Amino acid sequence: MKPVKIGLLGLGTVGGGTVRVLKRNASEITRRAGRDIQIVAASARSLDKARICDTTGIRLTADPYEIVNDPEIDIVVELIGGLDPAQDLVLQALDAGKHVVTANKMLIALHGNEVFAKAREKGVMVAFEAAVAGGIPIIKALREGLSGNTVEWLAGIINGTCNFILTEMWEKGRDFGEVLKEAQALGYAEADPTFDVEGVDAAHKLTILASIAFGIPLQFAKVYIEGISGITALDVTYAEALGYRIKLLGIARRTAEGIELRVHPTLIPARRLIANVNGVMNAVLVKGDAVGPTLYYGAGAGAEPTASAVVADIVDVVRTLTSDPDNRVPHLAFQPGAIADIPVLPIEAVETAYYLRLSAEDKPGVLADVTRILANHNISIEAIIQKEAPQGGSQLPVILLIHKVRERELNEAVARIEALPTIGGSVKRIRLETLG
Ligand code: NDP
Ligand code: HSE
Repeated sequence: MKPVKIGLLGLGTVGGGTVRVLKRNASEITRRAGRDIQIVAASARSLDKARICDTTGIRLTADPYEIVNDPEIDIVVELIGGLDPAQDLVLQALDAGKHVVTANKMLIALHGNEVFAKAREKGVMVAFEAAVAGGIPIIKALREGLSGNTVEWLAGIINGTCNFILTEMWEKGRDFGEVLKEAQALGYAEADPTFDVEGVDAAHKLTILASIAFGIPLQFAKVYIEGISGITALDVTYAEALGYRIKLLGIARRTAEGIELRVHPTLIPARRLIANVNGVMNAVLVKGDAVGPTLYYGAGAGAEPTASAVVADIVDVVRTLTSDPDNRVPHLAFQPGAIADIPVLPIEAVETAYYLRLSAEDKPGVLADVTRILANHNISIEAIIQKEAPQGGSQLPVILLIHKVRERELNEAVARIEALPTIGGSVKRIRLETLG
């Protein structure tokens, strides 16, 4: 049979990794796919740059549209990232009747509905396993392996850069900025790393996971997003002393009122497996009604781990090239006509437990005032610790762990606490999930 011809858009971290894996494992991959897979062309902005892969035998071009319009190419693999020009390239490739594999979570989270509609119209496939959690086959697990379940909730460490930064801060007390630079040098971070540290990249991924888990439309704009830039080494240390680790989690939960979609730093009990997922590793915990909790773990970023997912998608596309488009696995797991518009809850309506850190004057009655305010809002305290004042300071750090409370109620209580003359500055709040 004729080889299947691939055109790569992008030859950076993931593009380079994909060339390496496809070349190194060519015979093993052919045995699985049933056809030879040949990279005929690849595009990059600069043709002079040193590459992490051997490009011998691949036609190189600085014009990605040359690949998209090449009639010889069967599958376009988009590894440029961002929206411009990736979105237009993907839509043009689909229009030209080519299948598309992409690692671009921003494109899928923001414009997936349009991209999938175009693919259906043209009878071609769009595969995007590498868009979520790097090398972990979480899309396949959710879309196929768990299709007998009603998914109740999922919680994931889905940004490798943030997990790498938090781990280095916790294990070695390293400085935030310095570790971020290292994550960039290792190829983990996005082209604009604020997407990583401010939680936007994790929110793109959560949008995709939630859609596949619950059969809801992709709706990135409704995700509550808080990144890790406000997390201090002090909070990491206090959390540890209380038996918790801080992780950036993406959480999607089905409740009677609607769906929670949120990305934020979270205290997790240190005894949980997911609390011990460190460095660039990712993990997604999925709770299905039939199977119970399941945990998926692996490298969340980097050249070859991500290429592993890209190549698996290419193999999937090759295997189903001749199948009837109506009998393929739906992009978002549920049949397009069965996507349900379940409301997404605003963050004020979400209930979680909390870690609070405040600075209090060292005199009688101060903590009593704080606990009275919490009690008046029906907020119960699980633990309270008072630390030594930092050298030369007159205010004591006080850490409180509070039981589940609706965010709206906590906002009011915190505003009252911050207004006390004995409390300095604002109250630091980090959500806490037991993930039991
Ligand atoms: P890189 O920045 O390493 O590579 C991007 C590639 O696209 C480069 O070859 C670059 O050319 C080319 N490129 C950039 N802008 C343009 C443009 N305007 N027109 C044409 N070509 C362009 O990115 P990554 O490989 O890290 O990421 C690629 C995709 O994979 C992104 O969507 C990213 O979010 C996703 N991803 C990345 C992971 C990772 O670990 N890095 C993990 C999972 C997903 P040149 O090399 O000449 O600059
Ligand atoms: N920047 C992303 C991360 C790449 O750090 O997780 C993988 O999607």
